[in-house]
Amino acid sequence: MTDDRPVLEVSDLSVSFASEQGWVRVVEEVSFSVERGKILGIVGESGSGKSVSCLAAMGLLDSRASRVDASSRVLLEGTDLTRLSQRQLRDVRGDRIAMIFQEPMTSLNPAFTVGNQVAEGIRAHRGVSARQAKRRAVELLDLVGIPDPASIVHAYPHSLSGGMRQRVMIAMAVACEPAVLIADEPTTALDVTVQAQILDLLRSMRDDLGLAIVFITHDLGVIADVCDDVVVMYAGKIVERSDVDSIFETPQHPYSEGLLAAMPRLGSDKGALGIIPGRVPPPWEFPHGCRFEPRCPYSDEACGGPQVLRQVSVGHESACGRIPDIRLEGIVS
Ligand SMILES: Nc1ncnc2c1ncn2[C@@H]1O[C@H](COP(=O)(O)OP(=O)(O)OP(=O)(O)O)[C@@H](O)[C@H]1O
Ligand SMILES: [Mg+2]
Repeated sequence: MTDDRPVLEVSDLSVSFASEQGWVRVVEEVSFSVERGKILGIVGESGSGKSVSCLAAMGLLDSRASRVDASSRVLLEGTDLTRLSQRQLRDVRGDRIAMIFQEPMTSLNPAFTVGNQVAEGIRAHRGVSARQAKRRAVELLDLVGIPDPASIVHAYPHSLSGGMRQRVMIAMAVACEPAVLIADEPTTALDVTVQAQILDLLRSMRDDLGLAIVFITHDLGVIADVCDDVVVMYAGKIVERSDVDSIFETPQHPYSEGLLAAMPRLGSDKGALGIIPGRVPPPWEFPHGCRFEPRCPYSDEACGGPQVLRQVSVGHESACGRIPDIRLEGIVS
């Protein structure tokens, strides 16, 4: 495979959940891709479908309670994960694609040492001896910046700080040198200094290992800091897609403009933070037409038509039907 082809290409991913209202579609026709050595950010308010999209792409949703539409495609290094059996998926997960989950503190097993937990994945996928796996676990703990890794392999998760546990989670995820790492809000629970260190670590893995990273966050500051490209999700759909500089300078969707206005900024003379009035509706109340329309300061009678992502400039797509008639405010750096 050539290097310029995306390592992960998700296209037309649609996901429904069983509910008292019947099957409700929570993610609709979501497409994104990420290349080797790049970080793609997925941003949006709580409930916009970021985690569900990635869990579905990994084949991790419970098939009794959820449904991925047959038209959905998830190509990982050319293999369509939606066509694999559960057994084949287990082989691919942890090996070629790995995920750091939104609640890292619950993903570590308190009963096993961190060394055991890091080594477990290596043994499962690589069939190496316990001794080799342990040696590799020490190397990995060192790689993710854990001091004195030779003693920390014997430590239990509860004796580590939040930042150290997050590093252990990253070590477990990259243990088998996956092509793609999905990191779901990996820094939300951490204080700002530790957050900056974890972001540094992910950046260096992108640059030194050529890892392709999908980075989920609700924080545009983090997007500006680490991402190369970004997709903005609202109510289960992508509303804007662009490289990271363009979205900050010239946002092309009122929802993105609202997220930017709500972003805390050092030295800003803007006074109070802007907030987007209202809230993300539950999936069974998604409006027809543009889903953001009820909250949008620019809405007019034309906004009831189908919500379609269209190209507005090279590498920049928006689902707002009022572009280019409205001018949106970005952040000039
Ligand atoms: N297992 C489930 N069963 C039913 N509905 C679900 C399930 N998981 C998620 N949902 C619904 O799917 C929608 C998208 O949820 P998702 O967790 O992807 O949001 P998110 O963008 O990751 O938000 P957050 O920023 O809070 O993590 C929400 O309306 C949520 O209630
Ligand atoms: Mg989530």
